[in-house]
Amino acid sequence: MSSTATITYGEQSVQLPVITGTENESAIDIAKLRDTTGLITLDSGFKNTGATKSAITYLDGENGILKYRGYAIEELAEKSTFLEVAYLLIYGKLPNKKEIEDFQFQISRHTLVHEDMKKFFDGFPSKSHPMGQLSSLICSLSSFYPESLNPHQTPEEQNLTIIKLLAKMATIVSWIYKKSLGHPLIYPQNKYDYVTNFMHMTFGQRTEEVVIDPVVVNAMNVLLILHADHEQNCSTSTVRIVGSADCNLYASISAGISALWGPLHGGANQAVIEMLEQIKNDGGDVAKWVNKAKDKNDPFRLMGFGHRVYKNFDPRAKIIKKACDDVLAKLGVNDPVLDIAKQLEAAALSDPYFVERKLYPNVDFYSGIIYRALGFPTDMFTVLFALGRLPGWIAQWKEMRENKEPIGRPRQVYVGEVDLKYVPLAQR
Ligand code: CMC
Repeated sequence: MSSTATITYGEQSVQLPVITGTENESAIDIAKLRDTTGLITLDSGFKNTGATKSAITYLDGENGILKYRGYAIEELAEKSTFLEVAYLLIYGKLPNKKEIEDFQFQISRHTLVHEDMKKFFDGFPSKSHPMGQLSSLICSLSSFYPESLNPHQTPEEQNLTIIKLLAKMATIVSWIYKKSLGHPLIYPQNKYDYVTNFMHMTFGQRTEEVVIDPVVVNAMNVLLILHADHEQNCSTSTVRIVGSADCNLYASISAGISALWGPLHGGANQAVIEMLEQIKNDGGDVAKWVNKAKDKNDPFRLMGFGHRVYKNFDPRAKIIKKACDDVLAKLGVNDPVLDIAKQLEAAALSDPYFVERKLYPNVDFYSGIIYRALGFPTDMFTVLFALGRLPGWIAQWKEMRENKEPIGRPRQVYVGEVDLKYVPLAQR
């Protein structure tokens, strides 16, 4: 295949380089297009625009393939732990025994959160959404660790900032949950691994057997691994673009958390359960709601269906479905919304509207059912997504800095008024 593409515009013809990635994806490098033709490219929602070259995650939406650093998601979900995957994403290789032990040790030294941060909880109204709290609390870490503000940290200093964030995130997430219940906060116990420690701080009032039940801890590990990265999605692009302005890690991740909050992105896991509840409370007529989703005059969409890049199946949904069955069986949960979910899935998968548009259940369709079975309230679901996505955001921020990428600054095509004459207020 040619390594250049020719664009003809009027009398002009320009040859642009075509670059090919390691999985044979090709892209036209249009950086010089404007110099020679005066043209920019327009692609609303960046549906066909590559924003960067990245060595972290590969995703083939047509064939349902997802790999982190070259490893298939299926294998990582089955064989590794969330902490191993975090190491892989951030440092680019699977850790050996000593490396993972060191990583675990470093994280365990930073799990405590500054006691003054507890005062923030007193200021939030009791019904504040956990995602708003999380975004604020993570951004405020920059006040407690002002050395993170230096955009020219040494690699060692930068690594300490990363370790602190990974360590404190689990504590902060569990504290948001405890505060929402009005329960006393539970402090980290560093005898536990990352995920067990998180479960301990979150559900420490339960017996130790429940908190560290291998089926439960395994399901949580799988969920976090499946969410750990997803290349240049809305929140990750946000993290990279905010970081490209030399913003510190905490502020950049806080911006990503805000982006993730939206129901079209990470907020979909909360929206799925709310939708299933709504259908159940409305009498459980699944066909009626499928028809609403198809009606172009009705804003209702089937939450948990469709994906910007997966147009065949979401490989994460396949893995999570199995974890969902395991957890429900182990915990003996008989959730009435699960029945609605199954009917909805079957109806949508056989309906030409969904088949033609390639709308399949995505990862968020099942994750909410597991979180609910584990005892998390609905508005905590997206926070759990954020806990899983954290290593991916960190890896993407670090890669962007190491590649010395320029500040992100898209262009636009202006379509507003032209050369209006100012009319004084009294004459309008
Ligand atoms: N229910 C009904 N119709 C849908 C849905 C849906 N969930 N999703 C897409 N469509 C239709 C849409 O109306 C359009 O129809 P038409 O071609 O007739 O106008 C067509 O399918 C293409 O949709 P689109 O909005 O152009 O696709 P997109 O790539 O811009 O949006 C999406 C992708 C995920 C935002 C969208 O499918 C959606 O809103 N899904 C529900 C929310 C959801 O589950 N989000 C979680 C995504 S997975 C977690 C993550 O990675 O963030």
